Amino acid sequence: MITFEDVTKRFPDGTVAVDHLDLEIPTGRTTVLVGPSGCGKTTSLRMINRMVELTSGTVAIDGDDVRTREPAVLRRSIGYVIQQAGLFPHRTVLDNIATVPFLLGWDKRKARERAGELMELVGLEPGQARRYPHQLSGGQQQRVGVARALAADPPVLLMDEPFSAVDPVVRASLQEELIRLQDELQKTIVFVTHDIEEAVKIGDAIAVFRPGGRLAQFDVPERLLAEPVDEFVEGFIGYDRGVRRLSFFPARTLSLRSDVVVDAGTSAEKARSVARDAAEPWLLVVDPDKRPLGWVSAETLEGAAGDRELGSLALVGYGHIFVVATDSLRAALDASVLSPAGRAIGVDTDGTVVGVVSQADLGAAIWSAGDAAVPVGGRD
Ligand SMILES: Nc1ncnc2c1ncn2[C@@H]1O[C@H](COP(=O)(O)OP(=O)(O)OP(=O)(O)O)[C@@H](O)[C@H]1O
Ligand SMILES: [Mg+2]
Repeated sequence: MITFEDVTKRFPDGTVAVDHLDLEIPTGRTTVLVGPSGCGKTTSLRMINRMVELTSGTVAIDGDDVRTREPAVLRRSIGYVIQQAGLFPHRTVLDNIATVPFLLGWDKRKARERAGELMELVGLEPGQARRYPHQLSGGQQQRVGVARALAADPPVLLMDEPFSAVDPVVRASLQEELIRLQDELQKTIVFVTHDIEEAVKIGDAIAVFRPGGRLAQFDVPERLLAEPVDEFVEGFIGYDRGVRRLSFFPARTLSLRSDVVVDAGTSAEKARSVARDAAEPWLLVVDPDKRPLGWVSAETLEGAAGDRELGSLALVGYGHIFVVATDSLRAALDASVLSPAGRAIGVDTDGTVVGVVSQADLGAAIWSAGDAAVPVGGRD
């Protein structure tokens, strides 16, 4: 555990960057520090590895005051990843990753071997080992930065906006990689960002800072979104926090209707009676492999010759789908809002249709997700 006890940092010019901070950062989890620019996130992070010396209070790692440790030695037990990766431009990728093992006096071959393993771990191709940083994309450079920080297998990893300089698609994949890595490695990660979406996605716990270097709230993401302590936190996490909270509820709890899913070979006459029995305005048409083809409305069916097969009618594009086993209520809601039929299509992990759910049924499920989902209904 990393503990901040009544920690203040005042710079020589009088700026109070961090003001009486108390925080307990759990071992083996990812804790995110988030807040607007200038609120003291970087300063807090750097007090852990003594790149910034605190003015008063105590920062301790597993009970040991960091001030009792030689800074250079301390830093070798703490990985540090920054925006733009901060790689050495004249060293190859492999040697950048092996930086700390070299410093620790490891045998060169062993250090490079370890660097090679880490490249694989963070999703870099072996062929990139001999390249120089400028020959890599921004996302690849960040991966090298993460690998370098992990090289000596430090128990603690500090990450300061590591993914903020890459485009949103690469950023999302780096975030997913980090989640996967962390599942495997269980480091004590302290991650700084000013993006609340990123914080909620990767954090086990989130510390929201307010301007002036004060802690506003420290909580698990779910509770932060449900119960922001004040208007500042509420404003910071955004107006759609209720909807975002739905990402904590699994879609597999939904009951899906399969009676409105019909094969493309079904006749219009048969489909009319299916729609009437189901009292539904839309049927989902699927191919023989049970993959979605499109929607047909009851209205279209009423106007079609009874012997026409559904596959030969003009179907409405089926829009978005969600994966029942792995997606959240948020993904299901999103799929229903984006669907031309106002209904979300739930599929198996292999892409075959399980059933569909209407917005009304989704609303009921969201409501009954318990107290937890109340913000969506606006009963705040
Ligand atoms: N060396 C310094 N001397 C004086 N003031 C500093 C110094 N470093 C940081 N500050 C000030 O301390 C405050 C906190 O800075 P810090 O870098 O910790 O913020 P941050 O939350 O990381 O911001 P950002 O999101 O922009 O990175 C700011 O007001 C900043 O101007
Ligand atoms: Mg910063």
